[in-house]
Amino acid sequence: MITLRKITLDNRRAVFNLEVSEDQRQYVASNLSSVASCYVLSTNGGHPFPFAIYADEQPVGFAMLTYGITGYELPSVADGSYCILRFMIDRHYQGRGYGREALAEMIKFIRTFPAGPAQLCWLPYKRDNTAAKKLYESFGFQENGEICDGEQVTVLRL
Ligand SMILES: CC(C)(COP(=O)(O)OP(=O)(O)OC[C@H]1O[C@@H](n2cnc3c(N)ncnc32)[C@H](O)[C@@H]1OP(=O)(O)O)[C@@H](O)C(=O)NCCC(=O)NCCS
Repeated sequence: MITLRKITLDNRRAVFNLEVSEDQRQYVASNLSSVASCYVLSTNGGHPFPFAIYADEQPVGFAMLTYGITGYELPSVADGSYCILRFMIDRHYQGRGYGREALAEMIKFIRTFPAGPAQLCWLPYKRDNTAAKKLYESFGFQENGEICDGEQVTVLRL
């Protein structure tokens, strides 16, 4: 069973050690860098929710959800919307359905509107990231035609 859990003193090193394959590194920053970005966001008015993704008791991935993200190049849909960033499943655990289950859990969490109301959830992905594209489209995300920092913007109505 997949669960989203807080980053803690106990699990932080295991989360930092999770990695994608070499050819996927172009798609996602390291988890250490992502947790650092969450700190910067939270000290500058943002609302980041960094999550370790667990399969039963095993950390297998990471994602950060944000609300009211600021300080980046942003698409028009960003204002007052939730955003999913830095989503990854470790290379040893990919292809087992964990990513799909984790995304369902993230959307369920976002639909509790933990940081405020919103109409939309958006995320950016690189055009050639076909695994991510297929996964997001199967949840109903649709590209809105915008490019953010070189990445396609795709949007889900909440
Ligand atoms: C994208 C990612 C999170 C998917 O995680 P995963 O656990 O491997 O995904 P799942 O096994 O749950 O598969 C979910 C869906 O993704 C798609 N998918 C996964 N691997 C794929 C592949 N190699 N080729 C094509 N589609 C693929 C499929 O649509 C699949 O659904 P299906 O099995 O019903 O066809 C994972 O590949 C990853 O960490 N990639 C590197 C980082 C990244 O690109 N993150 C996204 C940034 S926007």
